[in-house]
Amino acid sequence: MPTKSLERWNRDGAHLEEVLKKAGYQTTLQYADNKVDQQITQLENMITQGAKVLVVGSIDGTALGPVLDKAHAAGIKVIAYDRLLNDTDSVDYYVTFNNYKVGQLQGQFIKDQIANMKTPVTLEPFAGSPDDNNAKYFFSGAWDILLPMIQDGTITVPSGKDPKSDDEWQSIGILGWGSDKAQAEMENRLNSFYSDGSKVGIVLSPNDSLALGIAQALEGAGYTPGDEYPLLTGQDCDAANVKNLVAGKQSMDIFKNTEKLGDETAKMVDEILSGKEVEVNDTKTYDNGKKVVPTYLLTPEIVTKDNAKEILVDSGYYKASDIGL
Ligand code: BGC
Repeated sequence: MPTKSLERWNRDGAHLEEVLKKAGYQTTLQYADNKVDQQITQLENMITQGAKVLVVGSIDGTALGPVLDKAHAAGIKVIAYDRLLNDTDSVDYYVTFNNYKVGQLQGQFIKDQIANMKTPVTLEPFAGSPDDNNAKYFFSGAWDILLPMIQDGTITVPSGKDPKSDDEWQSIGILGWGSDKAQAEMENRLNSFYSDGSKVGIVLSPNDSLALGIAQALEGAGYTPGDEYPLLTGQDCDAANVKNLVAGKQSMDIFKNTEKLGDETAKMVDEILSGKEVEVNDTKTYDNGKKVVPTYLLTPEIVTKDNAKEILVDSGYYKASDIGL
């Protein structure tokens, strides 16, 4: 797993390990502290120790080619977990949530809300880490809906930080998905482009770690929950963000049930090691530059204040007290 610094990866790792152990497998779970070199060393050790399958939540999806080649040379199968492994033949399967759909849900939510807002409305867009392959799908999903509304004047972007096409998403990416960096960027935009008292109406945040930093910046600039608080999107349903959702400091979230992702991965491991056919449901979308990687896609769900209890608590994912309900 890439890092312990985000709640989701801790849940991912813990659950995956639990289901694999229950199924009788021996596991080694490692976190790489968002450091590519550390991840390479960890993978090298796993290869030496005789792993049969590597499940890799990468930091930089393009940086692992040589170590994955070593794995393949040793007959080890490689599953890309949540994030695709790029520019390498040495990846066998990919299991993830539909990343484009995540962005689409965010973009469509914004579009639906704009129908009740005074236009033109101001938007500040953010994108995820430039080295994370998922980030481009999140952005495109949202931008394919929002860009036409910028072009027809329904939305304005006072900072000018609106990529003119999906391909330019990295220009507004936040390296490493850091809350601090997102906060600093939002503070900059608020100071530079809203100091005349004008208000930001919408912030497109691709995930929860960025949304936390953005919410801090908004609070620092005097925004309080209520009518003038911007629409703010997110993804992951981290506990801190669901609390913000309940408190009116974030407008929506995307739930990607990491337990389902772990269950699907464990099933894939089992199918590989028992020589069964591996079930996939997408053989077209995820071209990693060297091959189209057979993928199992799960479906993300939208969460708002109104359905948070039903989706997150009634399902047993959180206790009501975890998320301020
Ligand atoms: C994951 C997101 C996560 C982000 C930051 C992405 O690759 O799909 O769920 O918020 O990384 O860790």
